[in-house]
Amino acid sequence: MKRIVVTGGAGFIGSCYVRYALKTYPELHVITVDKLTYAGNLDNLKEVDQKRHTFVKADIADAAAMEKAMEGCDAVVNFAADSHVDRSIMEASDFIATNVRGVHNILEAAKKLGTARILLVSTDEVYGSIEKGSFKETDALNPRNPYSASKAGGELLGMSYFHTFNSPVIVTRGSNTYGPFQYPEKVMPLFITNAIDDQPLPLYGDGKNVRDWLFVEDHARGIDHALRHGAPGNIYNIAGENERENVVLTHRILKEVGKGTDLIKPVKDRVGHDRRYSIDSHKLKALGWEPKMNWDEGVALTAKWYKDNEWWWRPIKDGSFKEYYKRQYEDREKA
Ligand code: NAD
Ligand code: DAU
Repeated sequence: MKRIVVTGGAGFIGSCYVRYALKTYPELHVITVDKLTYAGNLDNLKEVDQKRHTFVKADIADAAAMEKAMEGCDAVVNFAADSHVDRSIMEASDFIATNVRGVHNILEAAKKLGTARILLVSTDEVYGSIEKGSFKETDALNPRNPYSASKAGGELLGMSYFHTFNSPVIVTRGSNTYGPFQYPEKVMPLFITNAIDDQPLPLYGDGKNVRDWLFVEDHARGIDHALRHGAPGNIYNIAGENERENVVLTHRILKEVGKGTDLIKPVKDRVGHDRRYSIDSHKLKALGWEPKMNWDEGVALTAKWYKDNEWWWRPIKDGSFKEYYKRQYEDREKA
């Protein structure tokens, strides 16, 4: 592969993927296509070799723009999405526009242009909640919030294009991802940055919901592994193998930032809050991928990154994020 389009490459995982791919493949040229929503940030791509990188500001929901950007590429890797569950609960229309219609445009452009690989980055949330055991790729989908339903819609369209048109579609389903450059609406960077500022950590419900934590570089490598070694028409789970209750994660963060548990503020639960996510990634492991980051090291590294890089997150938290935070947490905190 000489030329790949990475949609959503200015976001958290997408930018890690762009950095990883350019570092790993010296001959590769990456075209990042990103709408630069509130979550997109060109600072995330500052350190990449710009000679082998082209940035195109475009919306994946714009069919003509996608066709133009993808001309002559060997593969497209789609990260572009509205990605935050709480925002999808407030208002879901952007989620449908990007996560479903946008994916459809990518599939259509790839069909017309004959793109050799289409990798759709999806999520473990499409399976829904599981009390015991772990979901395999063959298990039924049961998405239970507007975000995960829109992601399921996008990947189902992708698989339908494989079956109907023989489009070379591969889907990955990753678990909760953490690490540097994550927008501070998600629990890990929100709690780290709130703790740095001695602000309350709003823990939903009883704090016993379980998420499986995957370090961002492990996720990026997993996606690249599926792209290069996976087979079209296949789905690959990418698990972190670090399941933790939210309350355990919260204590770990506070320890790392050096703050007390008095900062924990139990608040009203997320509606439709999935209790536990768990996936089995033996299928991708059989192709030679495995997660490398140890949990304690990953949390320490992530907390240190936020401590050392206030230039990155302070302008975000001081800007329009404040309005979102008020809307999302004000009433919750009263409950
Ligand atoms: P993010 O919100 O940090 O980044 C999303 C990026 O997509 C941003 O740069 C944004 O500007 C861009 N974007 C949004 N709408 C767009 C549009 N219409 N056209 C072009 N660009 C658009 O998200 P993330 O956490 O990096 O997630 C990346 C992908 O991985 C998403 O598809 C998400 O569903 C999936 N995923 C995320 C996680 C996680 O824990 N963060 C886990 C599994 C899967
Ligand atoms: O599982 C993969 C998914 O992980 C991705 O597909 C999504 O894009 C990503 O946002 C993430 O979804 P979650 O809803 O699991 O992540 P979030 O960081 O929002 O929440 C993680 C857990 O922490 C969840 O159980 C809710 C809880 N939480 C979250 C926030 C923001 C809190 O207790 N307090 C909070 O303020």
